[in-house]
Amino acid sequence: MKEIKIGLLGFGTIGAGVVKLLASNSALLTEKTGTRISLKSIVDLDITTDRGVNTEGIILTRTAEEVLTDPEISVIIELIGGYEPARSFVLKAISHGKHVVTANKALLAVHGEEIYAAAKANGVEVLFEAAVGGGIPVLSAIKGNLAGNRFSTVLGIVNGTCNYILTRMTHDGADFSEVLKSAQELGYAEADPTFDIEGVDTAHKLCLLLSLCFGTKIDLKDIYSEGITSISSEDVDFAKSFGYRIKLLAIGKMDDGQIEARVHPTMIPIDYPLADVHGVFNAIRLTGDFIGPVMFYGRGAGMDATASAVVGDVIDLSRSMGAGISRRCAPLGYLDEKVSTLTIKPMGEIVSKYYIRFQALDRPGVLARIAGALGASGISIASMLQSARSASEVVPIVIMTHEARESDMRRALAEIDTYEVIRGKSTFIRIEDNLE
Ligand code: HSE
Repeated sequence: MKEIKIGLLGFGTIGAGVVKLLASNSALLTEKTGTRISLKSIVDLDITTDRGVNTEGIILTRTAEEVLTDPEISVIIELIGGYEPARSFVLKAISHGKHVVTANKALLAVHGEEIYAAAKANGVEVLFEAAVGGGIPVLSAIKGNLAGNRFSTVLGIVNGTCNYILTRMTHDGADFSEVLKSAQELGYAEADPTFDIEGVDTAHKLCLLLSLCFGTKIDLKDIYSEGITSISSEDVDFAKSFGYRIKLLAIGKMDDGQIEARVHPTMIPIDYPLADVHGVFNAIRLTGDFIGPVMFYGRGAGMDATASAVVGDVIDLSRSMGAGISRRCAPLGYLDEKVSTLTIKPMGEIVSKYYIRFQALDRPGVLARIAGALGASGISIASMLQSARSASEVVPIVIMTHEARESDMRRALAEIDTYEVIRGKSTFIRIEDNLE
């Protein structure tokens, strides 16, 4: 029987999940591929801590070099995360003719171009299904069965930690930091959880989704990204009273040859399927010219779900190798030489509806001044709400707008924030309620 041997870099939560899956479903994988898939070596700085999985017969080593150059190993799974040493290890594996499977979205969002070029030069594949949406097979679908489509939008909830936090804030009125701690304990959060809550992890994933959907290089710095740290329980409650939920969305849209690429908390109508994606679950919604809208849903983080995606890539490789094919598909699903560099639309030019919250003194004429400033910037008010009444203290005033340009909105708010009746900085949340 054919056999492929794997080297695993990084024995953390996901690495342990891969060891567990390969052991539990070993016979099943052979039935499906006709190949014995065996894990030969694991590299980690810590090779003594018990991860609760059986490592009998697997070489545990602290030295990456011996695994990256092992002629018996044809596939390297990189689950170290971060930029270095992951980048150097992946390039070394490729230069030794090994295929690479990785869950490292940060690495690919920043060093993808270099890694894809190396893979092409060495005739190997780089697969990264686990990098976006945990266990959800969305990247394989974009490159595979949906490849006949020209996409116009790709948007979704792609960070399990943020979705878990927002869900607990919405449903249990839980406190932000307490929920973040439990997301870390459940193994959802990145090593540096600020990557999750500041929207960086979501931007990394959007970068990959955009590259695959539109066949373009994306400079991560051009993706606007805003996390969930400024979302208050007050905003969550106001959203509810207007019939919305707040979700951290990754939004990509093709707009007249330019791409909208943005990550921010977003209000979506409560009856959208996306509004019902709770906890660690992720969902990605694509619109293609022939398929129309299509949505993928599943566990976006965690040991078992992510291991499923990693092993799925290994199975894909084992089938190609079994058929004698060394490189079935380029990493982005477009021929490498056809990958373009599309322009990202400046954030000031995007058009959206907005929720705005002011903290204002409850005095006659305040609303008229706010409405006047919005009107002067061409912003039309759809509805407003002042739920409290206090002669001496500030009260929240909430305004929902019709569609407006972001630059006009920011200009109007900068003006309103100078009024002495307004206290603190006004906050706003973009609304997405017009999905095609
Ligand atoms: N920290 C990530 C998340 C893990 O919370 O979604 C999966 O990429």
